Amino acid sequence: MITPERRGLLGLEGLNAETISGYLESARRYLPTVERSVAPEHALRGAMAANLFFEDSTRTRSSFARAAMLLGMQVVDLTESGSSASKGETLLDTALNLDAMGFDVLIVRCSASGGASAVAARTRCPIVNAGDGRHEHPTQGLLDVMTIQESLGTVQGRAVAIVGDINNSRVARSDMHALSALGATTVLVAPPTLVDRRLARAVQGAGEVRVEHDFDAVLPHVDAVIMLRVQLERDAGSGVPADFRAMYGLTAARCRALRDRAIIMHPGPMNRGVEIDAAGADSARSRILRQVTLGVAVRMAVLERAVHGA
Ligand code: CP
Repeated sequence: MITPERRGLLGLEGLNAETISGYLESARRYLPTVERSVAPEHALRGAMAANLFFEDSTRTRSSFARAAMLLGMQVVDLTESGSSASKGETLLDTALNLDAMGFDVLIVRCSASGGASAVAARTRCPIVNAGDGRHEHPTQGLLDVMTIQESLGTVQGRAVAIVGDINNSRVARSDMHALSALGATTVLVAPPTLVDRRLARAVQGAGEVRVEHDFDAVLPHVDAVIMLRVQLERDAGSGVPADFRAMYGLTAARCRALRDRAIIMHPGPMNRGVEIDAAGADSARSRILRQVTLGVAVRMAVLERAVHGA
């Protein structure tokens, strides 16, 4: 029997290629459902999910809600300001109360790194991490590798640049775990103040992770670029050099330096005119909105496993 902790998804660190590929295969099966809005045969009808978002979100929160509804689940949506958290109740106590009500899965976003795991250690029902501080954003990591696989055919052997505020990015961490497990090379590109070289040790599986500071030197040699927002809410401001946009912004000139088939990605929210310009975000190379579509299918796969243990 798979325990609730193992059925839930707290991070991609330590997951092998087989487990990650299993999620992607299941997500591919659900993709026609997402694109046609028709509930699948194996819906989780009657199951109930609680979306517990203690940090703001546009994509992840609505994507999980849509994924759950497409599976036939019902969803209760809680945010910090609309719950008793505004009266001082902690994330853990809030989660324990929802667990006591009998929800089948809790989807947790919080600003504390490791917050989702701390909740999972105390609850009966499975926990899915929807982004916890700087730690991990596992469904974003899965949807990112699915986007690369769909656009380029394979992930193995590809070179992927993740550019910007690496130190504060849970997306970068989940991406590098998934990419390296699947045999890709991850190039973390940032000023020295925004990337800790020790992150290159996060390699797992057959892949490689390395750190570079010169975006222009990296650009012509990668198959995908994932641009990241500077996370001012995590005090990144003091580490951002004055020439950040000039050195690390994906401008029209930099888009022209990309390989012919290279794709552009961004987890959102984008800050246009800072880390990315319209010339990249809205170009034929951009897969930014495709990431969002694939994200719903990924979250259906994750919820299915969390609730059914499938
Ligand atoms: N990619 C992502 O996590 O976006 P949101 O913060 O809008 O959920």
